[in-house]
Amino acid sequence: MQTHIHFENRKSVDYTIYIDEMEKMHFDTKVAIVTNPKVAGLHLSKLLEKISAKELYIITVKDGENYKNQESLDYILENLFNHRFDRNSLLIAFGGGVVGDMTGFAASVFQRGIDFIQIPTTLLSQVDASVGGKTGINNRFGKNLIGAFYQPKAVYIETEFLKTLPEREFGAGVAEIVKMAVTFDADFFQFLEYADLHQQSDLAAAIRKSVETKAKVVGEDEKEKGIRAVLNYGHTFAHVIENITGYSRYLHGEAVAIGMVMANRLAQRLGFLDDEEALRIQKVLERYHLPVSFKIEDPERFYDAFFLDKKSENETIKFILPYHIGGYEMVRGVDRALVLSVLREFDSED
Ligand code: GLY
Repeated sequence: MQTHIHFENRKSVDYTIYIDEMEKMHFDTKVAIVTNPKVAGLHLSKLLEKISAKELYIITVKDGENYKNQESLDYILENLFNHRFDRNSLLIAFGGGVVGDMTGFAASVFQRGIDFIQIPTTLLSQVDASVGGKTGINNRFGKNLIGAFYQPKAVYIETEFLKTLPEREFGAGVAEIVKMAVTFDADFFQFLEYADLHQQSDLAAAIRKSVETKAKVVGEDEKEKGIRAVLNYGHTFAHVIENITGYSRYLHGEAVAIGMVMANRLAQRLGFLDDEEALRIQKVLERYHLPVSFKIEDPERFYDAFFLDKKSENETIKFILPYHIGGYEMVRGVDRALVLSVLREFDSED
Protein backbone atom coordinates (compact mmCIF):
# COMPACT_ATOMS: atom_id res chain seq x y z
CA MET A 1 0.00 0.00 0.00
CA GLN A 2 1.24 3.49 -0.79
CA THR A 3 0.40 7.01 0.27
CA HIS A 4 1.62 9.97 -1.65
CA ILE A 5 2.51 13.16 0.15
CA HIS A 6 1.77 16.13 -1.99
CA PHE A 7 3.07 19.55 -0.93
CA GLU A 8 0.67 22.25 -2.02
CA ASN A 9 3.38 24.90 -2.10
CA ARG A 10 6.45 22.90 -3.03
CA LYS A 11 5.62 20.13 -5.49
CA SER A 12 9.28 19.29 -6.07
CA VAL A 13 9.57 17.64 -2.68
CA ASP A 14 6.55 15.30 -3.02
CA TYR A 15 7.29 11.70 -2.06
CA THR A 16 5.74 8.32 -1.48
CA ILE A 17 5.29 6.40 1.76
CA TYR A 18 5.33 2.65 1.10
CA ILE A 19 3.69 0.38 3.65
CA ASP A 20 4.86 -3.23 3.54
CA GLU A 21 6.02 -2.80 -0.02
CA MET A 22 9.78 -2.59 0.23
CA GLU A 23 11.34 -4.23 -2.80
CA LYS A 24 15.03 -4.94 -3.40
CA MET A 25 16.79 -1.65 -4.12
CA HIS A 26 20.15 -1.01 -5.69
CA PHE A 27 21.74 2.45 -5.56
CA ASP A 28 24.47 3.35 -7.96
CA THR A 29 25.93 5.80 -5.44
CA LYS A 30 27.56 5.79 -2.02
CA VAL A 31 25.00 4.98 0.66
CA ALA A 32 25.24 5.09 4.44
CA ILE A 33 22.69 3.38 6.65
CA VAL A 34 22.52 5.24 9.97
CA THR A 35 21.23 3.07 12.79
CA ASN A 36 21.83 2.19 16.45
CA PRO A 37 23.28 -1.02 17.95
CA LYS A 38 19.90 -2.33 19.10
CA VAL A 39 18.15 -1.96 15.74
CA ALA A 40 21.25 -3.19 13.90
CA GLY A 41 21.36 -6.34 16.06
CA LEU A 42 17.69 -7.10 15.51
CA HIS A 43 17.04 -6.08 11.93
CA LEU A 44 20.06 -4.99 9.91
CA SER A 45 20.61 -8.38 8.29
CA LYS A 46 17.00 -8.28 7.02
CA LEU A 47 17.51 -4.82 5.59
CA LEU A 48 20.75 -5.79 3.89
CA GLU A 49 18.89 -8.51 1.98
CA LYS A 50 16.99 -5.67 0.31
CA ILE A 51 19.57 -2.92 -0.10
CA SER A 52 22.74 -2.82 -2.12
CA ALA A 53 24.83 0.08 -3.36
CA LYS A 54 27.98 1.01 -5.21
CA GLU A 55 29.52 1.48 -1.78
CA LEU A 56 27.49 0.75 1.34
CA TYR A 57 28.49 1.90 4.83
CA ILE A 58 26.86 1.39 8.21
CA ILE A 59 27.08 4.24 10.73
CA THR A 60 26.04 3.25 14.24
CA VAL A 61 25.09 5.96 16.71
CA LYS A 62 24.34 5.47 20.40
CA ASP A 63 20.76 4.62 21.26
CA GLY A 64 18.46 7.08 23.03
CA GLU A 65 17.22 10.65 23.24
CA ASN A 66 20.33 11.64 25.28
CA TYR A 67 22.48 11.01 22.24
CA LYS A 68 20.38 13.09 19.85
CA ASN A 69 23.00 15.80 20.05
CA GLN A 70 25.77 17.69 18.29
CA GLU A 71 28.31 14.98 19.10
CA SER A 72 26.33 12.26 17.31
CA LEU A 73 25.64 14.60 14.41
CA ASP A 74 29.38 15.31 14.09
CA TYR A 75 30.06 11.60 14.24
CA ILE A 76 27.71 10.96 11.30
CA LEU A 77 29.18 13.85 9.29
CA GLU A 78 32.79 12.79 10.04
CA ASN A 79 32.00 9.35 8.66
CA LEU A 80 30.59 10.87 5.48
CA PHE A 81 33.72 12.97 4.99
CA ASN A 82 36.01 10.02 5.77
CA HIS A 83 34.26 7.92 3.14
CA ARG A 84 34.33 10.82 0.68
CA PHE A 85 30.59 11.10 0.27
CA ASP A 86 29.50 13.65 -2.30
CA ARG A 87 26.36 15.42 -3.37
CA ASN A 88 24.98 12.31 -5.09
CA SER A 89 25.35 10.14 -2.01
CA LEU A 90 22.39 8.95 0.02
CA LEU A 91 21.63 8.46 3.71
CA ILE A 92 19.18 5.90 5.02
CA ALA A 93 17.74 6.41 8.50
CA PHE A 94 17.09 2.98 9.99
CA GLY A 95 15.66 3.18 13.50
CA GLY A 96 13.23 5.17 15.62
CA GLY A 97 12.61 8.89 15.86
CA VAL A 98 16.06 9.76 17.22
CA VAL A 99 17.90 8.09 14.35
CA GLY A 100 15.39 9.48 11.83
CA ASP A 101 15.62 13.07 13.07
CA MET A 102 19.42 13.07 13.27
CA THR A 103 19.96 11.36 9.95
CA GLY A 104 17.56 13.74 8.24
CA PHE A 105 19.35 16.71 9.76
CA ALA A 106 22.77 15.34 8.76
CA ALA A 107 21.43 14.91 5.21
CA SER A 108 20.12 18.48 5.23
CA VAL A 109 23.48 20.02 6.13
CA PHE A 110 26.00 17.71 4.45
CA GLN A 111 27.27 19.70 1.46
CA ARG A 112 24.11 21.83 1.70
CA GLY A 113 21.82 18.84 1.39
CA ILE A 114 21.86 15.29 0.09
CA ASP A 115 19.03 12.80 -0.33
CA PHE A 116 17.81 10.62 2.48
CA ILE A 117 15.29 7.85 2.97
CA GLN A 118 13.41 6.93 6.13
CA ILE A 119 13.00 3.29 7.17
CA PRO A 120 11.39 3.65 10.61
CA THR A 121 11.43 0.67 12.97
CA THR A 122 9.23 1.84 15.87
CA LEU A 123 5.48 2.35 15.80
CA LEU A 124 5.87 5.99 16.84
CA SER A 125 8.28 6.77 14.04
CA GLN A 126 6.23 4.81 11.51
CA VAL A 127 3.00 6.69 12.20
CA ASP A 128 4.43 10.11 12.94
CA ALA A 129 8.13 11.05 13.13
CA SER A 130 9.30 9.60 9.80
CA VAL A 131 6.68 11.46 7.79
CA GLY A 132 6.80 15.20 7.30
CA GLY A 133 10.45 16.16 7.33
CA LYS A 134 10.97 17.44 10.86
CA THR A 135 14.66 16.81 11.47
CA GLY A 136 17.01 17.98 14.19
CA ILE A 137 18.91 17.50 17.40
CA ASN A 138 18.54 18.57 21.02
CA ASN A 139 20.79 20.93 22.96
CA ARG A 140 20.92 22.12 26.56
CA PHE A 141 18.16 24.65 25.86
CA GLY A 142 15.68 21.98 24.87
CA LYS A 143 14.50 19.34 22.42
CA ASN A 144 14.71 19.78 18.65
CA LEU A 145 15.82 23.37 18.93
CA ILE A 146 18.42 22.91 16.18
CA GLY A 147 17.04 21.47 12.99
CA ALA A 148 15.40 21.89 9.64
CA PHE A 149 12.29 20.98 7.74
CA TYR A 150 13.92 18.62 5.25
CA GLN A 151 11.83 16.04 3.45
CA PRO A 152 13.01 12.48 2.78
CA LYS A 153 12.88 11.12 -0.77
CA ALA A 154 10.73 8.19 0.39
CA VAL A 155 9.54 6.44 3.53
CA TYR A 156 9.42 2.64 3.77
CA ILE A 157 7.29 1.35 6.63
CA GLU A 158 7.71 -2.37 7.25
CA THR A 159 5.39 -3.64 9.96
CA GLU A 160 7.61 -6.72 10.31
CA PHE A 161 10.10 -4.59 12.25
CA LEU A 162 7.49 -4.02 14.95
CA LYS A 163 7.46 -7.66 16.01
CA THR A 164 10.37 -7.11 18.39
CA LEU A 165 9.10 -3.80 19.74
CA PRO A 166 8.74 -3.76 23.57
CA GLU A 167 5.17 -3.30 24.80
CA ARG A 168 5.80 0.16 26.26
CA GLU A 169 7.18 1.43 22.98
CA PHE A 170 4.23 -0.07 21.16
CA GLY A 171 1.87 1.83 23.47
CA ALA A 172 3.84 5.03 22.92
CA GLY A 173 3.18 4.71 19.19
CA VAL A 174 -0.51 4.03 19.83
CA ALA A 175 -0.73 7.37 21.67
CA GLU A 176 0.25 9.21 18.49
CA ILE A 177 -2.29 7.19 16.49
CA VAL A 178 -5.03 8.13 18.98
CA LYS A 179 -3.91 11.77 18.73
CA MET A 180 -4.56 11.84 15.00
CA ALA A 181 -7.89 10.05 15.22
CA VAL A 182 -9.29 12.26 18.00
CA THR A 183 -8.48 15.53 16.26
CA PHE A 184 -9.11 14.63 12.62
CA ASP A 185 -11.32 11.60 12.13
CA ALA A 186 -14.25 10.38 14.23
CA ASP A 187 -14.64 7.18 12.14
CA PHE A 188 -10.99 6.34 12.66
CA PHE A 189 -11.42 6.88 16.39
CA GLN A 190 -14.44 4.57 16.40
CA PHE A 191 -12.35 1.98 14.57
CA LEU A 192 -9.69 2.27 17.31
CA GLU A 193 -12.32 1.70 19.99
CA TYR A 194 -13.15 -1.69 18.56
CA ALA A 195 -9.82 -2.68 17.02
CA ASP A 196 -7.07 -4.73 18.58
CA LEU A 197 -3.84 -3.19 17.38
CA HIS A 198 -1.96 -6.30 18.39
CA GLN A 199 -3.70 -7.97 15.45
CA GLN A 200 -1.68 -7.49 12.29
CA SER A 201 -4.60 -6.44 10.06
CA ASP A 202 -5.92 -3.86 12.54
CA LEU A 203 -2.42 -2.53 13.11
CA ALA A 204 -1.72 -2.19 9.38
CA ALA A 205 -5.05 -0.38 8.93
CA ALA A 206 -4.26 2.02 11.80
CA ILE A 207 -0.78 2.75 10.46
CA ARG A 208 -2.19 3.38 6.99
CA LYS A 209 -4.88 5.74 8.30
CA SER A 210 -2.42 7.64 10.51
CA VAL A 211 0.06 8.06 7.70
CA GLU A 212 -2.68 9.24 5.32
CA THR A 213 -3.85 11.75 7.90
CA LYS A 214 -0.36 13.02 8.59
CA ALA A 215 0.53 13.21 4.88
CA LYS A 216 -2.54 15.32 4.19
CA VAL A 217 -1.85 17.70 7.07
CA VAL A 218 1.84 18.12 6.27
CA GLY A 219 1.14 18.52 2.56
CA GLU A 220 -1.10 21.47 3.40
CA ASP A 221 1.22 23.04 5.94
CA GLU A 222 4.80 21.82 5.74
CA LYS A 223 6.34 24.43 8.05
CA GLU A 224 3.67 24.39 10.76
CA LYS A 225 2.17 27.79 10.14
CA GLY A 226 -1.34 26.50 10.71
CA ILE A 227 -3.02 23.08 10.69
CA ARG A 228 0.19 21.07 11.29
CA ALA A 229 0.18 22.45 14.83
CA VAL A 230 -2.89 20.26 15.49
CA LEU A 231 -0.46 17.31 15.51
CA ASN A 232 0.75 18.80 18.79
CA TYR A 233 -2.47 17.89 20.60
CA GLY A 234 -1.36 16.70 24.05
CA HIS A 235 2.21 17.84 23.41
CA THR A 236 2.07 21.22 25.18
CA PHE A 237 1.38 19.38 28.43
CA ALA A 238 3.63 16.43 27.49
CA HIS A 239 6.69 18.62 26.99
CA VAL A 240 6.33 20.01 30.50
CA ILE A 241 5.83 16.52 31.95
CA GLU A 242 8.92 15.23 30.11
CA ASN A 243 10.91 18.23 31.29
CA ILE A 244 10.00 17.98 34.97
CA THR A 245 10.56 14.22 35.01
CA GLY A 246 14.01 14.63 33.44
CA TYR A 247 13.10 12.89 30.17
CA SER A 248 13.56 9.57 31.92
CA ARG A 249 10.30 8.44 33.52
CA TYR A 250 8.09 8.42 30.44
CA LEU A 251 8.57 7.60 26.79
CA HIS A 252 7.50 10.52 24.62
CA GLY A 253 4.25 8.81 23.58
CA GLU A 254 3.44 8.03 27.22
CA ALA A 255 3.84 11.70 28.15
CA VAL A 256 1.62 12.55 25.16
CA ALA A 257 -1.07 10.18 26.51
CA ILE A 258 -1.11 12.04 29.85
CA GLY A 259 -0.94 15.32 27.93
CA MET A 260 -4.03 14.41 25.91
CA VAL A 261 -5.95 13.60 29.10
CA MET A 262 -4.94 17.02 30.47
CA ALA A 263 -5.88 18.79 27.23
CA ASN A 264 -9.21 16.95 27.29
CA ARG A 265 -9.90 18.20 30.79
CA LEU A 266 -9.36 21.77 29.60
CA ALA A 267 -11.52 21.09 26.54
CA GLN A 268 -14.27 19.80 28.82
CA ARG A 269 -14.12 23.01 30.88
CA LEU A 270 -14.39 25.09 27.71
CA GLY A 271 -17.38 23.08 26.51
CA PHE A 272 -15.53 21.51 23.56
CA LEU A 273 -15.68 17.94 24.79
CA ASP A 274 -18.33 15.95 26.66
CA ASP A 275 -17.47 13.90 29.74
CA GLU A 276 -18.46 10.76 27.88
CA GLU A 277 -16.15 11.60 24.94
CA ALA A 278 -13.23 12.23 27.29
CA LEU A 279 -13.87 8.87 28.92
CA ARG A 280 -13.93 7.09 25.54
CA ILE A 281 -10.52 8.58 24.68
CA GLN A 282 -9.09 7.63 28.06
CA LYS A 283 -10.37 4.05 27.70
CA VAL A 284 -8.54 3.54 24.41
CA LEU A 285 -5.31 4.85 25.97
CA GLU A 286 -5.72 2.57 28.98
CA ARG A 287 -6.25 -0.46 26.76
CA TYR A 288 -2.64 -0.04 25.62
CA HIS A 289 -1.43 0.46 29.21
CA LEU A 290 -0.67 4.11 28.64
CA PRO A 291 -0.47 6.35 31.72
CA VAL A 292 -3.44 8.69 32.06
CA SER A 293 -2.70 10.44 35.34
CA PHE A 294 0.15 12.43 36.81
CA LYS A 295 0.79 14.17 40.08
CA ILE A 296 1.46 17.85 39.46
CA GLU A 297 3.35 18.90 42.59
CA ASP A 298 3.46 22.58 41.76
CA PRO A 299 0.75 23.79 39.33
CA GLU A 300 2.19 27.33 39.11
CA ARG A 301 5.59 26.00 38.11
CA PHE A 302 3.94 23.65 35.62
CA TYR A 303 2.05 26.60 34.13
CA ASP A 304 5.20 28.72 33.85
CA ALA A 305 6.97 25.86 32.08
CA PHE A 306 4.50 26.15 29.17
CA PHE A 307 6.39 29.28 28.16
CA LEU A 308 9.66 27.39 27.72
CA ASP A 309 8.12 25.47 24.82
CA LYS A 310 9.36 26.74 21.48
CA LYS A 311 5.78 26.68 20.31
CA SER A 312 4.62 29.36 22.73
CA GLU A 313 4.94 32.39 20.52
CA ASN A 314 4.67 35.97 21.79
CA GLU A 315 4.39 34.84 25.37
CA THR A 316 0.97 33.27 24.84
CA ILE A 317 0.15 29.60 25.07
CA LYS A 318 -1.55 27.97 22.12
CA PHE A 319 -3.57 25.00 23.29
CA ILE A 320 -4.58 22.38 20.75
CA LEU A 321 -7.80 20.90 22.04
CA PRO A 322 -10.21 18.34 20.67
CA TYR A 323 -13.55 19.68 19.49
CA HIS A 324 -15.69 16.66 20.24
CA ILE A 325 -14.19 13.57 18.65
CA GLY A 326 -12.88 14.14 15.14
CA GLY A 327 -12.41 17.90 15.39
CA TYR A 328 -10.05 20.41 16.95
CA GLU A 329 -9.77 23.95 18.26
CA MET A 330 -6.57 25.98 18.52
CA VAL A 331 -7.04 28.41 21.37
CA ARG A 332 -4.94 31.24 22.66
CA GLY A 333 -5.51 33.46 25.63
CA VAL A 334 -7.16 30.89 27.88
CA ASP A 335 -7.61 32.39 31.31
CA ARG A 336 -4.64 31.53 33.55
CA ALA A 337 -6.92 30.81 36.51
CA LEU A 338 -8.89 28.28 34.46
CA VAL A 339 -5.75 26.48 33.30
CA LEU A 340 -4.42 26.43 36.86
CA SER A 341 -7.65 24.98 38.18
CA VAL A 342 -7.40 22.17 35.60
CA LEU A 343 -3.77 21.54 36.57
CA ARG A 344 -4.76 21.38 40.26
CA GLU A 345 -7.05 18.46 39.46
CA PHE A 346 -3.97 16.39 38.58
CA ASP A 347 -2.91 15.55 42.07
CA SER A 348 -2.38 11.80 41.99
CA GLU A 349 -0.36 9.18 40.16
CA ASP A 350 -1.74 6.09 38.43
N1 GLY B 1 5.12 15.16 15.16
C1 GLY B 1 4.38 16.29 14.78
C2 GLY B 1 4.76 16.81 13.44
O1 GLY B 1 5.46 16.17 12.69
O2 GLY B 1 4.36 17.90 13.10
